[in-house]
Amino acid sequence: MSATEAARRLEGRLVALGVCGSVAAYKSIELVRLLRAEGAEVVVLMTKAATAFAGTLAFQALSGHAVETDVLGLLPDNRIGHIVVADTADVIVVAPATARWLGAMANGIADDPLTAACLASTAPVVFAPAMDGDMWTHPATRANVARLRDVFGYALVPPETGSLASGQSGIGRLAELPTIVDAVVAAAGDRPVRRPDALDRPPRTAAPRDPDLAGRHIVVSAGGTAEPIDPVRFIGNRSTGKMGVAIAEAALARGARVTIVAGRVEVPLPAEANVIHAETTAQMREAVLAATFEDHADALVMAAAVADFRPRQTADHKLVRGGSLTLELESTEDILAEVGRRAAETAGQSKPVIVGFAAETGSLDRAPDKLRRKGADFLVANDVSEPGSGFGTDTNRVVILAADGTRDDLPLLTKREVAERLLDRLAGSLDARDARAHTVPPRTES
Ligand code: CTP
Repeated sequence: MSATEAARRLEGRLVALGVCGSVAAYKSIELVRLLRAEGAEVVVLMTKAATAFAGTLAFQALSGHAVETDVLGLLPDNRIGHIVVADTADVIVVAPATARWLGAMANGIADDPLTAACLASTAPVVFAPAMDGDMWTHPATRANVARLRDVFGYALVPPETGSLASGQSGIGRLAELPTIVDAVVAAAGDRPVRRPDALDRPPRTAAPRDPDLAGRHIVVSAGGTAEPIDPVRFIGNRSTGKMGVAIAEAALARGARVTIVAGRVEVPLPAEANVIHAETTAQMREAVLAATFEDHADALVMAAAVADFRPRQTADHKLVRGGSLTLELESTEDILAEVGRRAAETAGQSKPVIVGFAAETGSLDRAPDKLRRKGADFLVANDVSEPGSGFGTDTNRVVILAADGTRDDLPLLTKREVAERLLDRLAGSLDARDARAHTVPPRTES
């Protein structure tokens, strides 16, 4: 009988699925679906080797949770990922369990998130090994399995006989998935659900967004500029482009047409975006002005870290060592301020919404003045000296200041979540702009 015909046997439970590096890892994707069909919420933990056999994306999409792959990984709210799983899971099931994992677990070596979660948890553990037949019968493996089953009290779902990845036939195939699901149901038994509150459990990933930016053209500058000193050296900065790329990806997912004006970036750029490369501030200015005003952008998000100074002169040969060197610097053009001025002269639906960023150190006191000076509609300010914020991190704590005087103090969020919150404001501002444009009475012919 299928789960839909019978009562769902894991309703309301949190099942942590540990996936190890075996060819059978692809079967675990289907296991997520079967567990969910039984009513379980599923969170997946993978060893590094497992990610080489099956990508995290399929697990994340099916489970609705980010996949834990790093024993040092923190959740966006700074809780330790594998500890949250350990404290909230009703059952931990490791399928496929490899010979390496059996050895690590038998000896308490917590160098992957699933071993760490098992060690830190009082939840029942089910393990379903899969490996080559000779590995399965090796005394080391036998001893590790016996220790897990007899000393730790973990429930073994033994491997079955059949064709193996090596091309041989024998014992070592991962047990049939319904058998593993039955073992999880049996392990949960009739204990009460441990932590039914969603806030205690690992956070769910956001549901797919409405395409609320469809038909919009959003220009995002990302990364850092580089001002050449000579053909080899340049003045640069620590920007990696992560924040700008997160905004571009989020805008694409919400249906926008996206142009990225990319300085030096260390992250891959989304293939769906139109990318214009711009190394120097002057090149970035030209690209941003063209994309914003000639290619009719609805919004410009200036997430790039733009140089404030450049060498007055660039040597056309490599400068050689010897004595001292004095560089004379001159100010660069302020791209955001120029776009802000031009946008202020534009009316109605052609007026782009302008977003600036302000990387400050220590205090955000200067941010409101920067918003006014640059003529931006929004300024996203952060203190880059704060842990978890700034260059190269995956998280950011920002304040979004708006020209209407409002301010949103956001908690520490992933850069993608910051991007979504910013785009919420941007989408609202574009809708308000369009509504205003439609309520302007048409001019009468004289
Ligand atoms: N910016 C720009 N052109 C520049 C410098 C900065 O367009 N030459 C943009 C950045 O992309 C960012 C915003 O202006 O969106 C604020 O950058 P920031 O470096 O904080 O501001 P500055 O103009 O350098 O102001 P200050 O030196 O007073 O901090």
